[in-house]
Amino acid sequence: MSDHAIAAAPGTALAGQLPVSPNNPCPFLRALVANGYVDGHVVPLSQLTEIIGCASGETGSAQKKVRIATWIVAVIANGLGPARVFESATSGAVLDELRNGPLDKHGGGSRILDAHAKVHEDQIERLARFGKDCKDPAGGIETGLTAKEIKTFMAANIERDGDAARWYFPILMKGEWPVLLKILGKGEGEARYLSVAEVRTLFVERRLPERITARLPKPA
Ligand code: HEM
Repeated sequence: MSDHAIAAAPGTALAGQLPVSPNNPCPFLRALVANGYVDGHVVPLSQLTEIIGCASGETGSAQKKVRIATWIVAVIANGLGPARVFESATSGAVLDELRNGPLDKHGGGSRILDAHAKVHEDQIERLARFGKDCKDPAGGIETGLTAKEIKTFMAANIERDGDAARWYFPILMKGEWPVLLKILGKGEGEARYLSVAEVRTLFVERRLPERITARLPKPA
């Protein structure tokens, strides 16, 4: 099975995009950096939480909740020591130093991106095998994962990790795929699903769908 060597080469940028460090392992943040919404290095938490709040599509107190949850994740993302947490809170999160930080599960996740930020197509195909035919509200049928299938997928990832999986991985995972489903999902209620095609675009092309970027302030 082929891997996406070009999109994956560490530090390379697709046309019109900015390079993203391989030490940023988050597909969502990688897309924000590649498209100029946030800096690839230090990002003040006020800016990061604002962008993610906007991306969520929520407003008012619901958006405030998203921003608080993001702040909590981001403030510990570069280290748990008091000095480091203070620095993150006052200066910002260092997005090109997330690798090997407290949130890095070292292969306990999807394994779509490896430690060199190379995209593994076979792992996207594996993700798709957890999915099913979903009805796109805009018309047509596509492969997607609802909350239920995402839960099964995450449990399988933990199982595959064997003894390397830590007790808190399931807690970290709650802030990854389920949040992506919330933001990127199509459809409502139990039928809401994460499109595998859009997940592929996010990982390989570091691009968010237009309906999401339309919610964001113009990139710098
Ligand atoms: C709406 C906001 C976010 C979404 C939708 C999101 C989504 C995701 C997803 C889907 C993964 C992939 C997990 C896998 O491959 O199994 C991931 C990984 C990761 N995210 Fe995010 N993320 C968000 C915000 C953040 C923030 C604010 C940080 C820290 C500043 C962060 C840091 C990470 C890290 C370090 C990983 C790698 C985890 C690993 O490889 O084990 N993310 N995220």
